[in-house]
Amino acid sequence: MQEAITNMAQTSKIGLQVERLRAGYGKKEILRGLSLKVGQGEIVALIGPNGAGKSTLLKVIAGLLRPWEGSVWLDGTEITALPVHQRVQKGLAYFIQGGEVFPSLTVRENLEMGALMFPKAKRQEAIEGVLSLFPALKENWHRRAGLLSGGQRQALALGMVLLKRPKVLLLDEPSAGLAPKLAHEILAKVRELNEHLGITVLLVEQRVREALQVAHRAVALVNGTFAAETNEPASWLVEGALDAFFFGRMERAAAS
Ligand SMILES: Nc1ncnc2c1ncn2[C@@H]1O[C@H](COP(=O)(O)OP(=O)(O)OP(=O)(O)O)[C@@H](O)[C@H]1O
Ligand SMILES: [Mg+2]
Repeated sequence: MQEAITNMAQTSKIGLQVERLRAGYGKKEILRGLSLKVGQGEIVALIGPNGAGKSTLLKVIAGLLRPWEGSVWLDGTEITALPVHQRVQKGLAYFIQGGEVFPSLTVRENLEMGALMFPKAKRQEAIEGVLSLFPALKENWHRRAGLLSGGQRQALALGMVLLKRPKVLLLDEPSAGLAPKLAHEILAKVRELNEHLGITVLLVEQRVREALQVAHRAVALVNGTFAAETNEPASWLVEGALDAFFFGRMERAAAS
């Protein structure tokens, strides 16, 4: 019920917004005037075929690619012109497609590197926070990241992103390359982060079914244009009955 109340309260505030975004590479236009809002504490799944522009959209939001036109907003503040590190300071984190770890460093060293942005006294606490989310990382504490399994590596990469305690998380295919069970686990973890820490998530996934199960809303991106948008009810049914607030919008799904 706690989560349901939180989610209800979040609908009025916008965590992330893009407005009439146009962007591309060289002269090739990829994003053709996109507008999107992600409410604070909301998970929005962004789905679409290969080459649709999903990663491009995340790159623009993260600040790695300058848009030609349009604007990007974080918690009501325009960040279109800010460099990447200032977006990070404002609470934006980006899980890049493929994940990012230092393969020659151990799990412990990776997390210590990731925690360098904190004052010394706070680093351990930040690492402990990640370990409480991913206790399995402790089992490979002294293992080089390059020797981890796909799932372990992905968990470490996500842990590295979460070290920064983001308010808004951009996830580019966090389940890519994982066996179905591990993919399911990592997406369940995303949902847990959202529910327990209130993190706002824009989730790019090609595992459409799984993404729709964890997302509150879904948007389909085709050819740099939003083709469809839906409030996906199945996730609420799977998650259980914590969301009576939403039953009004779930009638069809509940009946099936
Ligand atoms: N650095 C780049 N330079 C030039 N073109 C690029 C670059 N990155 C991506 N593209 C092109 O932009 C288009 C959109 O790519 P993008 O990576 O955003 O797609 P995507 O929806 O994330 O696809 P996928 O599902 O395969 O990850 C594609 O046609 C791609 O070839
Ligand atoms: Mg991509």
